[in-house]
Amino acid sequence: MSKKVVLVTGGGRGIGREICMAFASENTHIALTYTRDAQSAEQVKQTLTARHISCSVHPLNVQNFSLCQSVVDAVEREYGTINVLVNNAGITLSKQFVNCDETENEAVLSTNLQGVMNMTLATVPSLKKSTKNAELGRIVNISSNTSLCGNAGQVAYSVTKAGVNGFTRVCARTLAQYDIVVNAVAPGYIDTDMTHDLPESTYSHVLKVSAMKRTGRVEDVSAIVQLLCDDHCQYMTGQVIHIDGGKFC
Ligand code: NAI
Repeated sequence: MSKKVVLVTGGGRGIGREICMAFASENTHIALTYTRDAQSAEQVKQTLTARHISCSVHPLNVQNFSLCQSVVDAVEREYGTINVLVNNAGITLSKQFVNCDETENEAVLSTNLQGVMNMTLATVPSLKKSTKNAELGRIVNISSNTSLCGNAGQVAYSVTKAGVNGFTRVCARTLAQYDIVVNAVAPGYIDTDMTHDLPESTYSHVLKVSAMKRTGRVEDVSAIVQLLCDDHCQYMTGQVIHIDGGKFC
């Protein structure tokens, strides 16, 4: 079985953490990044190391391209070329658009959209080297159900996630020639620190409108991300898979 080097941005907590756990196996090296939450990132590393799974932890602000490049270079130097990039890092902003100031909007745009583009740009050369050696080359972008629905109270956020969907399709088209497969997942309301900060009314709305009448778990997302990176999942690219318990909009 060939090795897998998996790079997950924002892998120290929430959905990203669970994605790291899902990929963890003897044959995998997990590289995860964090911003301020160094302690939880180190805890993930400790958990994986205790299971004899190779793991490295890197501080990163995805808004800065040269920092993205440095992380990719460090991972490549230590573990070889990257096989899977999961663009998971993201922030939200829950406010009516007219009440947002430009700095807040800019932070969401530069993290959720520019950040995904920065990390992808920095990682593609490494993915290309992997696929040239007949190894796996995958990108999974974490979008959101709001990219389709357009949440009135999360304007900048919804816009960035719609941008991620567009970027996913363009990357799928341009990277197919290098055997790099690119897809996105669009979760609905998943129980993490991010959603704990949302108003109670958002939670009740999800319970009311979703077919499954429940919020999602981090495992609901990591299972699909893992599936998209399976060796046998080869002919699906440029897709946005909704994981929302039948919320639709
Ligand atoms: P979280 O707040 O627990 O995790 C976000 C991660 O992004 C953290 O690890 C943080 O360090 C990292 N991050 C934030 N800003 C960064 C920056 N500038 N540079 C690098 N890393 C940065 O949130 P959660 O829920 O785990 O979210 C993960 C992803 O899933 C995000 O992209 C989010 O938009 C998306 N998502 C979450 C949903 C939910 O209901 N929780 C629903 C739909 C999408």
